[in-house]
Amino acid sequence: MVLDGFEGLGSGRRSLGRSSAPSLPPPGRESTAWILARINECCFELGLDSDQNVRRLVALCGTLMGAIDVTYDRLRDGHLRPAYRWTEATGSQAVTDRVGPAGTGPASAPPPATNGDAGAGAMNGLQVLPVEGGTRVTMGVRYGGVRWGVLRVELDRVLVVGDIDRRILEFVAAAIGIEEQREHSDVARRQTEERSRLVFESIRDGLGIVDPAENIVFANQAYADILGYTREEIVAKNLRELLAPGELDKVLAETAKRREGQASVYELAMRRKDGEIRQIRVSAVPWRDPAGTFIGTIGAIVDITEEKRIEAERRDATARLRRAVEKTIQAITTMAELRDPYTAGHQRRVARLAAAIARHLGLDDEKVQGIYLAGVIHDIGKVAVPAEILSKPGRLEKAEFHLIQAHCTTGYDILKEIEFPWPIAQIVLQHHERLDGSGYPGGLRGPDILPEARIIAVADVVEAMASHRPYRPALGVQAALAEIRQNVGRLYDPEAAEICARLFEREGFTFD
Ligand SMILES: [Fe+2]
Repeated sequence: MVLDGFEGLGSGRRSLGRSSAPSLPPPGRESTAWILARINECCFELGLDSDQNVRRLVALCGTLMGAIDVTYDRLRDGHLRPAYRWTEATGSQAVTDRVGPAGTGPASAPPPATNGDAGAGAMNGLQVLPVEGGTRVTMGVRYGGVRWGVLRVELDRVLVVGDIDRRILEFVAAAIGIEEQREHSDVARRQTEERSRLVFESIRDGLGIVDPAENIVFANQAYADILGYTREEIVAKNLRELLAPGELDKVLAETAKRREGQASVYELAMRRKDGEIRQIRVSAVPWRDPAGTFIGTIGAIVDITEEKRIEAERRDATARLRRAVEKTIQAITTMAELRDPYTAGHQRRVARLAAAIARHLGLDDEKVQGIYLAGVIHDIGKVAVPAEILSKPGRLEKAEFHLIQAHCTTGYDILKEIEFPWPIAQIVLQHHERLDGSGYPGGLRGPDILPEARIIAVADVVEAMASHRPYRPALGVQAALAEIRQNVGRLYDPEAAEICARLFEREGFTFD
């Protein structure tokens, strides 16, 4: 402890043994330097503990002045309350709790006169009052522009306050004021630290700090709880000990990012104390000292094991639902094909080719799946066409042809109420539309036709021409591709047509 304002008194800075009491005045006690040295010893020996320092200063005052009783009354909330008392017989002791409730700082206005002669007047400086059998001296304790309290000294003799007594009182009062101010700022600092601690402890996320070598240097309770350790156990660990097998490289890569100043959120499998592997989401930010040097990572961790389990279950449920939709569509197709053996297999072959085109076009799996299923069911509307028309070997009458053309709208009507994850009903409705508007039933043009429907249109024409039909023998794949090439861009989507030709000619695609 260095008493601000008293620097330069080298003799006062030497340490006394812990048991040593302030020395009794030797010859030359009138020396200001000697008094200050004793004051400095009081504070120096006990270091930064302001409580102890004030207690010692009260005792020193009594000893130096040859008093029988010295009391230090502290000013709190405008009232003087006894804080420390020293008597010749009992030594010094604390009278009340050292620190009041939060927010009760010292007042800067004089307090009401609640303590007899140690009232408003006493706050302002030195007062000497003759009392029965002796003298009472009071001295206001002020420092840093703040009134901290009153020092009250009882003597069993009549005191004529001389220069030395005045100096002792002034210096002791100043030293107490310094300690009070230091304690007050410590209290404010401790309150800030306590607030920070409460914030750390009250949040549900685990908060931990690891140094650059992945040693855990701080962990809040939630952090320890997530990993099944006590806080004492967890701060003795290195993060590497807590990782599930195979996770070290990820952590090292993340630490490297932190060194570059990057924050990130990532998932990590960690091993609890009981051996259980948990999925953890880590939000990590670099921790730097005031000079900007990387000194570790501050990480918030959340156990997402349950979240991941629910997510996986949801994925499974969705996949099961998809499979059910697929099986249902195939069941409908099988049923329809029972009464229309000539086109049996047509839809499945179209579906396979359309899906292959879609995949080669770079569409995602989700879209490819939708196109496949739309292909499987695209002619479902033919259930409304009399079987004898479907299987009629010769040329169709105009009315018969119109009945067959209606299969697009019929198929749409059958499917439109079903909430597929894909626009299946629309694709079925549009699979006979052509780019130049010459198709049916809507006469839609180019971009108004769904891409999925344009793909199925190409696959449908190729499969139909390549295969046997009731009214004609199979024309073959080459003839089908020639038809597509001849009308590419006019009737058929150029990209789908090109991919389709490539599949047969270069990728070895077959309908078998
Ligand atoms: Fe069709």
